[in-house]
Amino acid sequence: MRADFLLTGISQLVTCDPALGEGPLGVVERAAVAAAGGRVVFAGPQAALGDLEVAAGAVRVDAGGQAVVPGFVDAHTHLVFAGDRADEFAARLRGVGYEEALAAGGGINRTVRETRSASDAELEAAADRRLALAARHGTTTLEAKSGYGLTVEDERRSLEVLARVAARSPVEVVPTFLGAHLVPEEYAGDRAGYLDLLEHEMLPACAPLAEFVDAFCDRGALTVEESRRVLAAGARHGLKGKLHANELGSTGGAALAAELGCVSADHLLYCEPEEAVALAAAGTVAVLLPGTSFLLRTGRAAPVQVLRDAGVTMALGTDCNPGTCYCESMQLVIALACVHGGLTPEEAMLAATDGAARALGRGGRVGRLAPGAACDLVVLAGRSYLDLAYHLGVNLARLVVKGGVLHPGDGDGIPAEPAGPAGAGP
Ligand code: NIG
Ligand code: FE
Repeated sequence: MRADFLLTGISQLVTCDPALGEGPLGVVERAAVAAAGGRVVFAGPQAALGDLEVAAGAVRVDAGGQAVVPGFVDAHTHLVFAGDRADEFAARLRGVGYEEALAAGGGINRTVRETRSASDAELEAAADRRLALAARHGTTTLEAKSGYGLTVEDERRSLEVLARVAARSPVEVVPTFLGAHLVPEEYAGDRAGYLDLLEHEMLPACAPLAEFVDAFCDRGALTVEESRRVLAAGARHGLKGKLHANELGSTGGAALAAELGCVSADHLLYCEPEEAVALAAAGTVAVLLPGTSFLLRTGRAAPVQVLRDAGVTMALGTDCNPGTCYCESMQLVIALACVHGGLTPEEAMLAATDGAARALGRGGRVGRLAPGAACDLVVLAGRSYLDLAYHLGVNLARLVVKGGVLHPGDGDGIPAEPAGPAGAGP
């Protein structure tokens, strides 16, 4: 098949396929990428392009001696919500804990109130903006949850909003039903009543619009038994399982995710060695959210060595939400994964791409630049992927490509990094 997309002049190509280059990231220097019909047909040394056939009208891009990485996969966001909780964030900086704010009537319940009273247009505009920001920062695939509606109508509406927002974005959006984010305040005295509603009315209304079912299994949210019921009911509607597990306490969420064979267990700020072994055996991916652990300000991060020792696949996500971490940038998450989360730059890079793709059941399809995979990539403003952790707090996405198509307008005004003195840099 003739290539309709050709990217050359790459100083350092991170394929995330160890078979294609050096080390666990499969790094290739002086590289090129070619694609046809949105899929990679070549990723390797430019000198090996040989007589690859390129169509007459093909998109040709010169990376200008910059590094290229797979498009980021954000494995965990709460994209659809109205309002903000900047005042709770400020209070947290003064020492008021996340759980204190929730107990005082704030937290998730407050965003639920604001989301319910927002118009469709308001909800949609807010989610559009967040998705556009994610795309600008190099995200090409993103998971997004409902969970601030918590009525049949409002959960369904959140997923409908998400579908419309996704339809006009270049980003592939993976929808998750999170009607079990919390038992809403009006059901405080009748938790079983809410779970009945979720199982018998919400799920039938929402499952056709979702791919995954999730529950916030934690202190002050859902119990292990309640979460088990929600995920089992979701499975009967064909939804694959995810679980918010062990974010605020060691409450059995990780063990439950393994027991149910969830695709991912997310947060895991607490994870005992035996829980990690169970996750690895179940093939459950650990989605780490270092932006959240950083901003919770408890000094705790997920126990990476425990996960490593057990051989658990790690993924990264922003957790973009109004309470714990309002952030759309996977670049910042990669940096925090390294400087706060204890991951190596190689682990963080892999977790933000191939690992996150696995956490969304898309391993091998996105998150790597290998023949057959989607041609989703970021041309960085930097000569090495290390800049993602090292060159902090600026947008290094010069160009973003999804399915072999350039995002219009991206990279405008972001200068490339010039080649250093001979022998310096990659
Ligand atoms: O992943 N933990 C549950 N959900 C979010 C926080 C949601 C909120 O505070 O609004 C999280 O951290
Ligand atoms: Fe979350």
